[in-house]
Amino acid sequence: MRIVAIANQKGGCGKTTTAVNLSSALALLGYKILLIDLDPQAHASLGLDVVKDITIYDVLSKLTKYRTNLRQIITPIEENFDLVPSNILLSTIEQELSDEISREARLHDALSGFQSDYDFCFIDCPPNLGLLTINAIRAAQDVIIPVEAGRFAVEGVKKIIEIIDLVKNRLNHPVTRKVLVTMFDSRLRHSFSVLDSVKTVFRNELYDTIIHVNVKLKEAQSKGVPVISHDKYSRGAKDYISLAREITSGIEKEKKMDDVLAATIKEEIPKFISVNFSLLAPEANEVYVVGDFNNWTKSDDNHMVRDISDHGKWFIDLPLIAGTYRYKFIVDDTWVEDPLNFRQQENSFGGVDSLLEVKPK
Ligand SMILES: Nc1ncnc2c1ncn2[C@@H]1O[C@H](COP(=O)(O)OP(=O)(O)OP(=O)(O)O)[C@@H](O)[C@H]1O
Ligand SMILES: [Mg+2]
Repeated sequence: MRIVAIANQKGGCGKTTTAVNLSSALALLGYKILLIDLDPQAHASLGLDVVKDITIYDVLSKLTKYRTNLRQIITPIEENFDLVPSNILLSTIEQELSDEISREARLHDALSGFQSDYDFCFIDCPPNLGLLTINAIRAAQDVIIPVEAGRFAVEGVKKIIEIIDLVKNRLNHPVTRKVLVTMFDSRLRHSFSVLDSVKTVFRNELYDTIIHVNVKLKEAQSKGVPVISHDKYSRGAKDYISLAREITSGIEKEKKMDDVLAATIKEEIPKFISVNFSLLAPEANEVYVVGDFNNWTKSDDNHMVRDISDHGKWFIDLPLIAGTYRYKFIVDDTWVEDPLNFRQQENSFGGVDSLLEVKPK
């Protein structure tokens, strides 16, 4: 079993979203996953619709009336995916354990004996560098450090790296670390410059996969399910499946993963044909493509991306099923036809829509 802590003292950088959705993506690929909610805010538990009275607190505490072990509080979420829940009582543990010897190894000890039960155990840490985060790093072989693309600050990330190094050196515990860029917004030029500086600072300690901003991740969290159950075709689901693949590439189970993935998407994916839309709009601040295929509504998934070389071109690839579609672009709230497509059809508003035929492959 690979134990992976997801840690960064910065609040709201995507730790819990990553913990929940990476767990669910790996479970879909056939890996057995245990997710430990180690945050007194219990966002991972709540985000999976789990509210319990007996929690990880009662495993780590010596004072609780309900002293228990991990095995007894494991809560099944989905096939291959189990959760160890948390609740607000966990916030007292720091104080409680302040005089204990080996207080930083309590989670590590609680996990001994679980080696063959799971392929991965993820630990969702709270937004501070206190005893809980140290317990997570002490228990883990790897640490994922999510950093939010819009608010990246080298200093903040250095702090968590210092703590990892401290645990590594003082407790003589080998642990690797890797940065994951989250909430990347390709509409913002700023995101690209942040990505450049993260790449410069972390080089090969950076996941290739980038997690984009996607409203479906928020929606899934408030519905109490992983994004794959909420909308498996969303950008968020695809990003976390890519991350799962990246993390497991090289692991001998890759074949099993490919088989499961192929079986899962066999029905749907081949039906889709990737269609490229592009529009020259140098002055625009934002551009969407809307049409029959997305109910003519703007969303994260049809927001076009400005060409990085910045010749004023906007583009997007959309997966569409074979058929005939009407569409338009929305350029800063103004609806326009595709100037490069001469096939048009009148619409009921007295104007025209562009017409597109997607042929089966
Ligand atoms: N890629 C994303 N796109 C859109 N919203 C996101 C994304 N990732 C996270 N969020 C939202 O941002 C908020 C903070 O994310 P999350 O709870 O995962 O952060 P966290 O690091 O666990 O926070 P905390 O430090 O409080 O534990 C949540 O509302 C979540 O739904
Ligand atoms: Mg969290």
